[in-house]
Amino acid sequence: MRIFTLILGLLSGLEYSSGYNYLMVLNSAGRSHFNVGHALAKGLVKAGHTITVVSVYPVKKPISGYTDINVPNVINVMGGDIAALWASIQKPVTQKLIDHYQMGFRITRGLFEDSNFQEFLKSNQSFDAIICETFYNDAHYGLAEHFNAPLIGLSTGGGLTFITDMVGSPAPASFVPHIMLPFNDHMSLYERLLNVAFLGYERLLLDYYYLPNQEKLYKEFFPGNKRCFYEMRRNASLVLINQHVSLSFPRPYSPNMIEVGGMHIDGKLSPLPEKIERFINESEHAAIYFSMGSNLKSKDLPPEKVQEILSALRGLKQRVLWKFELDKLPNKPDNVYISDWFPQTDILAHPKVLAFVTHGGMLSTTESIYHGKPVIGLPIFSDQFFNMAHAEQTGYGIMLDFKTLNAVDFRKAIERITSDPSYTKVVQGMSFRYRDQQHTPLENAVYWVEHVTRHQGAAYLQSASQRLNWWQYHNVDVLLIIFGAAFLLVIVLPFTIFKLLNKKLSRGEITQSTKAKRN
Ligand SMILES: *[C@@H]1O[C@H](CO)[C@@H](O)[C@H](O)[C@H]1NC(C)=O
Ligand SMILES: *[C@@H]1O[C@H](CO)[C@@H](O)[C@H](O)[C@H]1NC(C)=O
Ligand SMILES: *[C@@H]1O[C@H](CO)[C@@H](O)[C@H](O)[C@H]1NC(C)=O
Repeated sequence: MRIFTLILGLLSGLEYSSGYNYLMVLNSAGRSHFNVGHALAKGLVKAGHTITVVSVYPVKKPISGYTDINVPNVINVMGGDIAALWASIQKPVTQKLIDHYQMGFRITRGLFEDSNFQEFLKSNQSFDAIICETFYNDAHYGLAEHFNAPLIGLSTGGGLTFITDMVGSPAPASFVPHIMLPFNDHMSLYERLLNVAFLGYERLLLDYYYLPNQEKLYKEFFPGNKRCFYEMRRNASLVLINQHVSLSFPRPYSPNMIEVGGMHIDGKLSPLPEKIERFINESEHAAIYFSMGSNLKSKDLPPEKVQEILSALRGLKQRVLWKFELDKLPNKPDNVYISDWFPQTDILAHPKVLAFVTHGGMLSTTESIYHGKPVIGLPIFSDQFFNMAHAEQTGYGIMLDFKTLNAVDFRKAIERITSDPSYTKVVQGMSFRYRDQQHTPLENAVYWVEHVTRHQGAAYLQSASQRLNWWQYHNVDVLLIIFGAAFLLVIVLPFTIFKLLNKKLSRGEITQSTKAKRN
């Protein structure tokens, strides 16, 4: 009997803890971004919940509890942006930021205008929370009011200002560089000056260009929403950020901004395809892996850069696996293996792979650190400069300038990283620290999503900074009062006293001199 009640209790307990229904919106068309959201979606399903995932990558094998909504229109509007990525290296960072915002307007609208998404919006499903990728798409956060559920942000990159805004996370400009700048937490006076100036520039662009345009999209596509756009986007319950202190540097966060960097890495390895494994196995001096990620295609490289790269690789002791998306590469040396796809994690895990030549994106650097492999970085856009500046500062990587990349420098960097053991030693230490966490990043993410759902949005975690405007946040009004008072006290007051005294004295003199005249 007692066992029976126990089982009943357990069953009802199970029922109580299971069965939240989530909506996840992955609006960027990047495969690597999708992989991060997908890992969390699978984690939530495994924990007993159901999830509807809006993305451009429907799963091939159906997963029970996981419903796809395919939104191909996002790819249509993003095609041009991806093709333009290589050329973006020529632009100053101030222009890159504007380009990112404009791409954001296109993909935000692209999702809203997708017919499958429109259909879905009309359905009267209910969700316990909305998990929304934070990728230049603030208008999408209106889904929270539309479905009357708490909002959870999922940053597949680092902490840009429009993301930290959502939970009012502090980001002191003195030691938290903007993630599009090639600085680390130890900035010189000059670097701090540039950081503050760039953050100010970003704030102005955000407030007078980016957000007003997102507000227009919000009003256009959520005509029934009552909440003010600006209040709505500062009302997130939680933001999961793809970062970890062991991968970057210590910085403060609001209590509802949680680092889950690397949650897409499940640690499981699959055997390598036989051809690749043999190519690595049979290398006398081990191998290098070279991939610019899923968005930057090596086949679109300027031909002269391809020739520089090939002449750097020709005659190299090591073999090279290069993600190059064409069948034929004229002039390809025998020590180079090309393919349009590689199982990146399994290759990085191979003991005979010595280093990773990468664009320095957050996901690639995280995977490289996880497997203890040093990097050579060719950063092109977004947080890649920041990640590579950190790799150089920490000593686990070498950053090269893509604009001036030539065979000699590229060759030198490869020889240095494969012959100097210090790079590998540093990155293995980082790997050890990264893996030494109480819970895996995915467990952490699932826990926090459940936590804010259980507490109906967990308003208790929301920092009061979310209700302040910038001059209140930085106490500009208070400083004005203090400095105003000090100014009165130190300059105006003595000056007035002096003037008064002066007047009295001279009046006294006048009376004396008139007296003297009369006498
Ligand atoms: C909306 O809900 C009602 C009642 O729950 C149901 O009959 C109807 O089919 C639903 N509509 C859609 C589009 O799901
Ligand atoms: C903030 O979100 C909660 C749910 O998490 C909701 O109940 C509340 O109305 C929202 N407030 C504003 C101002 O958007
Ligand atoms: C590669 O080497 C490993 C370890 O020496 C061995 O187990 C594996 O069978 C080899 N694979 C191939 C394809 O040669």
